Amino acid sequence: MQDKRKKFYVTTPIYYVNDVPHLGHAYTTIAADVIARYKRLNGYEVSFLTGSDEHGQKVQQAAQELKVDPQVHVDRLHTRFNDLWKRLNISNTDFIRTTEERHKKIVREILQDLFNRGEIYKDSYEGWYCMPDERFWTEKDLVNGTCPECGRSVDKIQEHNYFFKMGQYGEWLAEHIRTHPTFIQPESRKNEVLGFLSKPLGDLCISRPKSRLSWGIPLPFNADYVTYVWFDALINYISALGSQDDVRNGGFWPADFHLVGKDILTTHAVYWSTMLKAMNLPLPSTIFAHGWWTVDGKKMSKSLRNVVEPNLLIDLFGVDSIRYFLLREAPFGQDADFSHKALIGRINSDLANNLGNLLNRTVSMIKRYHDGKIPDPGETTDCDSLKNEFASALPEIRKGYDELAYNKILERIWKLVDAGNKWIDVKAPWNLFKTEEGQKELAPVMYHTAESLRAVAVLIYPFMPHTSEQILIQLGVEGGPENQGIDSISNWYGLKPGTELQKGERLFPRIEEKQEQEIQQTLESASKDNAAPKTAENQDELGAPISIEDVMKLDLRVGKILEAENVKKSKKLVKLKVDIGLEIRQVVAGIATSYEPEALVGRSIILVANLKPAKLMGIESQGMVLAGSADGNIVLAGFDQELPTGARVK
Ligand code: MSP
Repeated sequence: MQDKRKKFYVTTPIYYVNDVPHLGHAYTTIAADVIARYKRLNGYEVSFLTGSDEHGQKVQQAAQELKVDPQVHVDRLHTRFNDLWKRLNISNTDFIRTTEERHKKIVREILQDLFNRGEIYKDSYEGWYCMPDERFWTEKDLVNGTCPECGRSVDKIQEHNYFFKMGQYGEWLAEHIRTHPTFIQPESRKNEVLGFLSKPLGDLCISRPKSRLSWGIPLPFNADYVTYVWFDALINYISALGSQDDVRNGGFWPADFHLVGKDILTTHAVYWSTMLKAMNLPLPSTIFAHGWWTVDGKKMSKSLRNVVEPNLLIDLFGVDSIRYFLLREAPFGQDADFSHKALIGRINSDLANNLGNLLNRTVSMIKRYHDGKIPDPGETTDCDSLKNEFASALPEIRKGYDELAYNKILERIWKLVDAGNKWIDVKAPWNLFKTEEGQKELAPVMYHTAESLRAVAVLIYPFMPHTSEQILIQLGVEGGPENQGIDSISNWYGLKPGTELQKGERLFPRIEEKQEQEIQQTLESASKDNAAPKTAENQDELGAPISIEDVMKLDLRVGKILEAENVKKSKKLVKLKVDIGLEIRQVVAGIATSYEPEALVGRSIILVANLKPAKLMGIESQGMVLAGSADGNIVLAGFDQELPTGARVK
């Protein structure tokens, strides 16, 4: 890291716009947010970029299925990421979309420049193509004749394409990695990349014929082709900074950290590095490949119904608990396993017991002994042991940030929390309060207790910004954590005697066993597929009471009926194609006695979108349409105003 220039640039991968944001996406983005906030605490001007990857085959296919223009499709979808980042308190300074003109313009400029300088050439190509992964493979790459990456079938393709002369940079790149020990981190991943480079590096096919894929950035020198989605996407890291000249002279490039998951390290370490070399731009200081989260030991996947939905976690546990847990639980470079039990365990022990204890004891004793005002520290040197604990932790914490060893940083900060709690135990203010002699020491003891809490609040700011702000508010500190700065830890004496404590939120209440059981049940039934709660079958009888958690399990969506036809040999059933924004569903509904198919097309309805698919008269139904009925007449539920397709109904 180049600490001298006081500018810092961190990036996340840009997420596939088609994907529903999950824990894995949240992980990279929170990790980037922590380092961004830490750098701000150190007085840096920070550029923190995230965004969405919006071109390519999958987007084109999804849009085709929905019968919408791909641009309309991505315009609808990308906000899901932005919305989650707001909820997770992510402090990104920019969000780039690869369909924005500012990005496409730079991609075209770079392509033209590389083409003019002979870095890109046209050639005929024969190989095996994996459609879902949008990647070419040679015969020897295939595993049992299928894609080595995803195991799906591949198609033999022969066509003309454009190639980037990546192969010529293989040896240079290996040398760069060897001579820049912190370029690829962690160490084990660096060795993987070097292993990859020990075989001859081929050239990279960077185009797709428009006849096969049209949803991409047309090549500026041949409009019959679009740009390969990775070549397009990687450029986001500089297109967000402005023109190539700006990148050369503007100050934020090269990036300090590209954070990526281990699965996309090769594209970053090899494709992106060689692209930059060809552009005569310096390489980023570090590409850090983090590990993957599994859930209860299994890979997260839609088919296993174990995808961890960050919004639900935020609702149940609060945002800072999740930010803390994800970075505390395992070293950043290694795989980790998510379980709600482990999360609750950490909330109770680290947050409620340790940090919560320090906060509550400090605040309540200052209220009791000092009328709710920060006392005077006096001239005593008695605090050295406590003060030194904090000062000596700082170099270790700084080193932890250089290595993105988030779990070690948190461990170290929690030793300081323990030190604060121990200081209270040893000094026993409640005893000092009892005697005249003790009273003299009480004020300095309580000042330093409060000061250690202030220092902890500043240190946890990158991980738990809301908690940090709340603690500082309670201590009567104005201006927020960034205003305090990291040096205030070793300078100590940050609190002003006489400042009045302020009321604040109750932070980290313990999750008691009973509550834990309820939470577990909510989560388990949200992911597994429990039987539906008992409902009223008789119109005159109200249904058995259910909890709000049960209600929240329902994923109700605004859908638009695209097609409708009566089911043969059925008087009641009609088969519908319903657009619910994210996908198209086939739904069989028992409304044929009240609605003609023609009258249904184009109508908005409410669909239970997370109902287990079932077969009705041999036809799969992927959801349930909400309707009311009286005297045999069925009326579809709807709205008195138009809502966008896919909007949630609560
Ligand atoms: N669009 C590309 C990145 C282009 S960057 C120029 C992409 N997108 S992605 O949405 O599929 O993945 C984004 C990130 O999420 C990757 O870093 C990936 O490693 C991460 N994760 C996806 N699932 C994950 C887990 N289960 N656990 C941790 N991170 C995971 O790839």
